[in-house]
Amino acid sequence: MTPARAETILKSSHLLGIEALSVGEIVSLLDLADTYVALNRSANKKTDLLKGRTLINLFFEASTRTQSSFELAGKRLGADVLNMAVRTSSVSKGETLIDTATTLNAMRPDILVVRHQDSGAAELLSRKLDCCVVNAGDGSHEHPTQALLDALTIRRRGRKFEGLTVAICGDVLHSRVARSNIHLLLKMGARVRLIAPRTLLPGEAERFGVEVFHDMKKGLEGVDVVMMLRLQLERMSGAFVPSTREYFRFYGLDAEKLKLAKPGALVMHPGPMNRGVEIDSTVADDIEVSVIQEQVEMGVAIRMAVLDALSRGLALEGRNSP
Ligand code: CP
Repeated sequence: MTPARAETILKSSHLLGIEALSVGEIVSLLDLADTYVALNRSANKKTDLLKGRTLINLFFEASTRTQSSFELAGKRLGADVLNMAVRTSSVSKGETLIDTATTLNAMRPDILVVRHQDSGAAELLSRKLDCCVVNAGDGSHEHPTQALLDALTIRRRGRKFEGLTVAICGDVLHSRVARSNIHLLLKMGARVRLIAPRTLLPGEAERFGVEVFHDMKKGLEGVDVVMMLRLQLERMSGAFVPSTREYFRFYGLDAEKLKLAKPGALVMHPGPMNRGVEIDSTVADDIEVSVIQEQVEMGVAIRMAVLDALSRGLALEGRNSP
């Protein structure tokens, strides 16, 4: 079954973050992604919706889930997909982000998916290029498709956002996943608790409109969803935690601490996981509570929905309409 083409979904020709999206745009993307979950579970996963379109993945940081799911999403929609091997590209000779992106832009892609270590990199490219730009993670700023796939996972588990309490736990300071999820969950009417040591929270975290807890046991009391974050050791220049062992004792999710959440609470993690640091394997692998593998599955559907939505905008603008 091929989902029907309907009206345009996104106001912008780029997806740079959740902050700028309306509730209507988020709900429309989730609804569209639902149709792609069904397609992805069928024997014939391919459509020709994006036939003739070109998608380039430009990842300056490592990725398993995001890059491979954008590749699969593009291919399942019938697009030509190029994965730039940044490490062996002319970036290694000193070519800048802008020069690399404008060079690729000259090859007339329709959509560029970019991950970069600097906050604002995707927004910068969206002003320089004439193709659609999708932010696949920029520094500690935003990771919009992660928040969308998390929302899809929560919604498909039958949870309503209005009145839902979600605890986001761990390295909030360095986490673009946390920022995008905070924006999305608050827009959708959920309550957000941030649980972290003071060293791993941005200054005045309450300004986001969330509740802040430094004691994980208090923060987990009665929550509907526990969203664990990876301790991003690669972004830490100093000692943010005494030791990973100590960190696990106070901020790692194990079966004992999980008992404080509401019975039936969902356990989420964007991956990759540091097992035994922020989450215990007995929780991460317990399919009664953990929806981590579902998050990965929803990632492909959400990225198909995003590519579909952006290509509708291209067709409306009459740019190289297939
Ligand atoms: N969650 C996430 O962005 O994973 P990857 O780094 O593997 O893409």
